[in-house]
Amino acid sequence: MYIHTLGCQMNVYDSEMAAALLQPLGYAMTDDPASADLILLNTCAIREKAEQKAFSFLGRLANLKDKNPELIIGVGGCMAQQEGKEILRRIPFIDIIFGTRAIRRLPQMIEQVADRRCRIIDVEMADEIDPFLDTKEGCETDTTAGSGEPNGRVTRFVTIMQGCDNFCAYCVVPYVRGREQSRRAGYIIREIETLVRSGVREVTLLGQNVNSYGRKEDFCTFAELLARINDIEGLYRIRFTTSHPKDLSEDLIAAFRNLDKLCHHIHLPVQAGSDAVLKRMNRKYTREQYLRKVETLRQVCPDIAITTDIIVGFPGETEADFAATLDMIRTVAYDGLFSFKYSDRPNAPATRFSQKVPEAEQNRRLQTVQKLQEEYTLRKNRALIGTRQAILVDGFSKYQDRMDGPGNGIQWTGRTSGNKIVNFSCSGEASFCKSLLGRMIEVEIENAFPHSLRGKPVKRDNLLKGEDTYAA
Ligand code: 5AD
Ligand code: SF4
Repeated sequence: MYIHTLGCQMNVYDSEMAAALLQPLGYAMTDDPASADLILLNTCAIREKAEQKAFSFLGRLANLKDKNPELIIGVGGCMAQQEGKEILRRIPFIDIIFGTRAIRRLPQMIEQVADRRCRIIDVEMADEIDPFLDTKEGCETDTTAGSGEPNGRVTRFVTIMQGCDNFCAYCVVPYVRGREQSRRAGYIIREIETLVRSGVREVTLLGQNVNSYGRKEDFCTFAELLARINDIEGLYRIRFTTSHPKDLSEDLIAAFRNLDKLCHHIHLPVQAGSDAVLKRMNRKYTREQYLRKVETLRQVCPDIAITTDIIVGFPGETEADFAATLDMIRTVAYDGLFSFKYSDRPNAPATRFSQKVPEAEQNRRLQTVQKLQEEYTLRKNRALIGTRQAILVDGFSKYQDRMDGPGNGIQWTGRTSGNKIVNFSCSGEASFCKSLLGRMIEVEIENAFPHSLRGKPVKRDNLLKGEDTYAA
């Protein structure tokens, strides 16, 4: 089976879940679509561009299907949820359309198609479908091959809730992923314990708005969940995404001080810097409120890295509104940001707003944001030169073959607590250098680039975590 995943981390998680569910049917992952007897595409609907990518991937499958009529092709995810019928109309050789809450029914669908060569659309969203099922439990086999995750097993995503109730005016998520539902803490913890047993050292907890975790269901709070996860032995690091600024609570902020495994990084999407635009976006916070939260975060955790999402060219965004966004970027001095041109989405209210910003102007604003941020990213990275950072080694560096050359040590890569990539070469004992995957080590930062840092291990006893396996 070959799985192609577009879109966000939640889709990566869902693809892994699909792979785990299909293993008992005898499907194993391959990196080569031409040799697969099952191809799944997990789609994204957040912007129009993501949809174009899906159609171009599907278009390329036509000749594989011609060569192998037994090949089963399934399309899932947000775009499948939203436009299932339209996808089938445009690409008639697809066998299965599965929506965002239909993944657990994939094995039955695939068996049915294999038996009867029928076509199936399952975009059922009903809330009684149990999101709390513990499907991944007990599955310690590697389902990451072909999922686009290069380094396998050290860091993993864990979905703690699905759906969204916020209805930001531009956003399709509440329509394609349904109402917000949290998973029970016990299931989340068991899943993480299983991952840790298989060598995972860092988890990123996923939800559209993790801060409202458990609120509807009256489970524990997100901060309490983090505290429980912090106690899991063998887990070194916890990250999470995404936190809606309006719900960023005092106790979550305090968790950055109190929980030793919680990484010093928060992704806090601001979207825009002008109150008028924030209001029309239905974000439910003002610029001042956002800035106050940033200030508190930095008081509690002075070295916290803050990243954000920005939408440029939202309907009605004036030059003055845009200037307020640039000012926001300067005031917060983000460690990094993702920026997007506003894109009309079916169902999202902003699609019906007037005063659309012309594409050429959107492009100009996007470039301005990106250029401004580059300065800050580099400045932030350079400020780390000379410091010592604890990093979790999560794989070989992509420079492995290019830098230093053979004989000059193994090129590894890892991330700082603030989520910055650090490449380094290990020139110590071979047995030590070969065994760094999944270890925490201390490096001194020697150089800074726009997208990464270069460091060197501080000394032989720089192993912060993972001694047990080294001794063995
Ligand atoms: N147009 C452009 N960007 C969007 N995002 C969400 N919906 C849209 C849209 N219609 C961006 C937001 C969000 C990120 C995941 O994608 O910035 O935080
Ligand atoms: Fe979309 Fe807003 Fe929900 Fe995020 S919080 S998923 S932007 S509706």
